[in-house]
Amino acid sequence: MPFDPWDPDFVAHPYRVYDELRRQAPVSYFEPTGQWLVSRHADVNALLRDRRLGRSYLHVATHEEFGRPQEPDFQEPFWRVIRAGMLDVEPPVHTRLRRLVSRAFTPRMVESLRPRVRAIAERLVAAYADKGGGDLIAEVAEPLPVTVIAEMLGVPDQDRHLLRPWSADICLMYELNPGSQAQHTAARAAEEFAGYLKSLAARRRRAPGDDLISALTQIPELTEDELVGTCVLLLNAGHEATVNVTGNGWWALFRNPGELQRLREDRSLLPTAVEELMRWDTPLQMFERWVLEDIEVHGVRIPRGSEVALLFGSANRDPAVFDDPDRLDVGRADNPHISFGAGIHFCLGAPLARIELIESFGALLDRAPKLELRQEPTWKPGYVIRGLRSLELTFAG
Ligand code: HEM
Repeated sequence: MPFDPWDPDFVAHPYRVYDELRRQAPVSYFEPTGQWLVSRHADVNALLRDRRLGRSYLHVATHEEFGRPQEPDFQEPFWRVIRAGMLDVEPPVHTRLRRLVSRAFTPRMVESLRPRVRAIAERLVAAYADKGGGDLIAEVAEPLPVTVIAEMLGVPDQDRHLLRPWSADICLMYELNPGSQAQHTAARAAEEFAGYLKSLAARRRRAPGDDLISALTQIPELTEDELVGTCVLLLNAGHEATVNVTGNGWWALFRNPGELQRLREDRSLLPTAVEELMRWDTPLQMFERWVLEDIEVHGVRIPRGSEVALLFGSANRDPAVFDDPDRLDVGRADNPHISFGAGIHFCLGAPLARIELIESFGALLDRAPKLELRQEPTWKPGYVIRGLRSLELTFAG
């Protein structure tokens, strides 16, 4: 089977294809997207840290200079939001934006949120148990990180149902070669989300609360676009992958019952188990970078203006780094997985994501000693963002 991110069979089983790529073509040109695929851990890790590449090129060149088409007008609301957040800018703007919010996400700060995260996880799991099960994604995996990040930012309770659909629509643009309908949907979601956040920020500016949006409104050098871009990024990145790690992770445990049993018997394995679940079935399979100055990888010259696609899912199964990489080992001690990225854009929310995952897996293990799979789940069609449509479980016994 070739690398084909639009083929549902490939999306369901990408790892065998990655084996081939790593062995035979650690760097290869992929015609349908015009990108260079990079499949080995050492290369992905090095390129993420290499300042000759960037998440954007607009700080050093125009679209024309990079041989890229002008963006259609209707996409303007999307790019305005995305390019105002730290993820899609490079230093010095990146450094400034990241510094403004990083204090809220230090390991110490987020550790203080643990009791609240635990309480939310226990409440959701109790309600799920009372129903005797159902779709784990809708009942637990989604509401936990959405509630946590919405509370941090100060999004009112009654508006939280808006966040997940906006995020899902905006994320359509992160898939490879999104179609016209997806592009319009994403632009509309970005416009609505930005409008909502502007009016929320205006209210908080007048009457600040004890939340991150209020704090951001008090920073004079942050433009309105940057405030909106930062909040959209935090709200979206703050739940999207965590939802999928929960679903993919439980599905991985059901396919490896010995490891599930091991975890049930020894809860002290939870921290290593969560890292391993993120490695074994990587929630964000690929991240892209623009080549700002010519580079060479394995003797292949990749010129300025090219785009590389870093295959995180492949890097995380590289036998040069991980012993027996296809084996799920919830006790794996040496686990330098790349699921949170590396370099200057390393996931700002990693400490928070870890707490959320440990608390939600822990709450389910405590409350449901006999959780069973009702039916085999199916993957959502996207390749880049890897997640299940639903995960139907029953509380047996
Ligand atoms: C298991 C869950 C998560 C995974 C796998 C994940 C993964 C990632 C990755 C791979 C990147 C870097 C992308 C790149 O280099 O191109 C990133 C960036 C980021 N993530 Fe996460 N993330 C998770 C949860 C979170 C949470 C809970 C937050 C909450 C605030 C968050 C906020 C961010 C932000 C703000 C960035 C941009 C950092 C920058 O550009 O400097 N993430 N994430």
